[in-house]
Amino acid sequence: MSAEFEIVDAHLRDLGDLRRLENECFEVDAWPLVDLLAMLMFPGIVRLKAVVDGRLAGIIAGDLRRGQNLAWIVTLGVRPEYRRQGIARALLHACENRLPIKTIKLSVRRSNWPAIQLYENEGYHQVDVWKKYYVDGEDALVLEKINVS
Ligand SMILES: CC(C)(COP(=O)(O)OP(=O)(O)OC[C@H]1O[C@@H](n2cnc3c(N)ncnc32)[C@H](O)[C@@H]1OP(=O)(O)O)[C@@H](O)C(=O)NCCC(=O)NCCS
Repeated sequence: MSAEFEIVDAHLRDLGDLRRLENECFEVDAWPLVDLLAMLMFPGIVRLKAVVDGRLAGIIAGDLRRGQNLAWIVTLGVRPEYRRQGIARALLHACENRLPIKTIKLSVRRSNWPAIQLYENEGYHQVDVWKKYYVDGEDALVLEKINVS
């Protein structure tokens, strides 16, 4: 069944729900509290959430590096029960539209097939590999897209 969702700005008051989502989505890669706080509070970050029936279903954040005409998508996660309903794609589109920047980059585990499928379908392509980037020694693929929004 497809969920009705809305995409709106995320705020500090989302911290508790975001911690739960982070653990459900990222497990060993889950950010510590201090990084989640920074993501919700620091300037220069586009932070958006997907909400279903008042519940946090997904999150995305884009970190602007205006001087380099570059932004990094630093996180994108959708809770397991809301997946395959277009929420990540909608979050990505909404975030890209809010980034007044030419190049968008992100990193993803080499084995993260669902995410790589999503990004490639949305116009991202591989530009680099960070060897043994993750805590368990897995490589990160660095993907890039030229933003036309
Ligand atoms: C990757 C993730 C964000 C996708 O979220 P989602 O809301 O299920 O994705 P969407 O429904 O918007 O899917 C959009 C497209 O991505 C691709 N995709 C998503 N999940 C997929 C899967 N399990 N297998 C294959 N392709 C998949 C498909 O092309 C899909 O389009 P389609 O449904 O029309 O075929 C979600 O699985 C997740 O949160 N995973 C854990 C956290 C994570 O890995 N985040 C990315 C870190 S870089």
